[in-house]
Amino acid sequence: MCGIVGYVGYRNCADVLIDALSKLEYRGYDSAGIAVFENEEIKVAKSQGRLKDLSEKMLKEGKPSGTAGIGHTRWATHGEPSDKNSHPHEGGRVTIVHNGIIENYKNLKDFLIKEGRCFKSDTDTEVVAQLLDYYYEGNPVSTISRVITEVEGSYALGIVFADFPDTVFAVRKESPLIVGVGENESFIASDVPAILKYTRNYYLLEHNEIAVLSKNKACIYDLHYNKIEKEMQVADWDMDSAEKGGYEHFMLKEIFEQPNAIKTTITPRISDGLPNLEECGITPETLNKFKQIFIVACGTAMHAGMVGKYVIEKLARIPVIVDIASEFRYREPIVTKDDLVIIISQSGETADSRAALELSKKLGAKTLAIVNVKGSTIAREADMLIYTHAGPEIAVASTKAYMVQIAVMYLLAFEIALAKNKITTEECKKLIVMLQDIPETIQGMLKNIEETQYIASGLINADSLLYIGRGLDYALSMEGSLKLKEVSYIHSESYAAGELKHGTISLISEGMPVIAVATQTDLFDKTISNIKEVKARGAKVVLICRDNYEPEEGLADCCFKLPNVDNIIMPMVAVVPLQLIAYYTAVLRGNDVDKPRNLAKSVTVE
Ligand code: AGP
Repeated sequence: MCGIVGYVGYRNCADVLIDALSKLEYRGYDSAGIAVFENEEIKVAKSQGRLKDLSEKMLKEGKPSGTAGIGHTRWATHGEPSDKNSHPHEGGRVTIVHNGIIENYKNLKDFLIKEGRCFKSDTDTEVVAQLLDYYYEGNPVSTISRVITEVEGSYALGIVFADFPDTVFAVRKESPLIVGVGENESFIASDVPAILKYTRNYYLLEHNEIAVLSKNKACIYDLHYNKIEKEMQVADWDMDSAEKGGYEHFMLKEIFEQPNAIKTTITPRISDGLPNLEECGITPETLNKFKQIFIVACGTAMHAGMVGKYVIEKLARIPVIVDIASEFRYREPIVTKDDLVIIISQSGETADSRAALELSKKLGAKTLAIVNVKGSTIAREADMLIYTHAGPEIAVASTKAYMVQIAVMYLLAFEIALAKNKITTEECKKLIVMLQDIPETIQGMLKNIEETQYIASGLINADSLLYIGRGLDYALSMEGSLKLKEVSYIHSESYAAGELKHGTISLISEGMPVIAVATQTDLFDKTISNIKEVKARGAKVVLICRDNYEPEEGLADCCFKLPNVDNIIMPMVAVVPLQLIAYYTAVLRGNDVDKPRNLAKSVTVE
């Protein structure tokens, strides 16, 4: 989704804004722009396309020169990607950048048109710029307060008023925004990586707080202009973790970071060989009292929940319902105070997951957030919280966040099973050891990735393919399929292998690739039968199986062999080749792997 930055200080503002926006490119965008105070006048430069298109445009037409301003990368919602719809938008004396959606923009626009205002763009954002100017009487903070009472929807706004050179204003509701504080310079940004080069200190702006940034200070006010004292946050990510560090893409770097991410996530949550989630506010007693568990999330995070369902149900024998957040929030779910609702989200800002959290709290359930981004909305609003410590995930396609999300699912499953006496302490200790061994196992696998490159080379011309599996292999194949779709743009579906013959097998034609995940020993023979069914109909089978299995002649066209770990823990191992196959297929097709078309990293609108 859109990225916002703002700067006031002593450096060349345009350069800082472009640099900071480049750190938000991962969020996905189709146009970019900046507004900078030059000799006390606001100069705007904007362009459809990438940041480099904006930079080239400024090279030809002149780059605004000054030390204060705002910048934006736009992911189109209202109005096509174009120069005129790119931000910043002006409304007379006010210029703004916006992330979010103004839901009542039509009514506000009609009102402003009646008042004689003209609009230059098709965006909802320009309405806010015009409304700010309409009500402006010389006091920016009271004008912002007034306007946001009329505006419905979600927003993070960076605002400059022509009368207040070298001052940047900001306000947010639902869309994320931080306020960075450096030596003689202040920043706003949608996410921490944008400011890491300049400072690690920042404030989290809460809903309807207004930030006023000048060179020497950043002050935060409530809607009645009362100053708010806030606790300074210090980013524990460094620049290196937000840079590619020699890898061709962030996606590949993040796949390689997985062993370490697992260690950092699980180690603090294990004591005396057993799971210990007390620092997250979770005790065996808390977990023991729930009648059922909902896991609600979107995309990859929901797939991590699918693995969680299989593992929790198998070990702890408690029903787990996995829901897509955008469905959950509108299907009047039967959630009660006896239920636990787990919200999984890398960003902690996904609009549908946030709404699902809010609804669950309203229905009286206890909520637990599993989140990667510190201080994000979901992290702050859930009753209990487990941070995954994956570090910043920059590639749009999630890999290491998924890995640590499932690592946390395992810890929870072990803890619940133990609390419910479904496993003994000794069994639990064994499971923990298996989990602790996984980073080393993955490390070993990552030394030998040629096989996945070879498999990918055989997929690049496919129009469509299927991922099949049973049980945990099915849960996992959902993620493999999504990963491939996202970055390679090849259509794919994941299917429960046993369900194929109820319709989907009609899709199989000569040469259609089928990636068959067959790691679960208890279901192995059944999956092999399903593989034979597709093979007999001409499928080109890529078999993902254990290294102690020798496929019979003619079963598979190629085979990726996995280290022979326990069934229950296998998804953590088996997902690695699926991620790499998706990655290399996209690379070989020449795609923009880290910023796939049409996608945004953090989906902060419905
Ligand atoms: C995964 O590769 C995708 N980028 C996407 O499905 C993502 O997992 C989903 O949008 C949820 O995001 P969240 O984890 O930040 O809530």
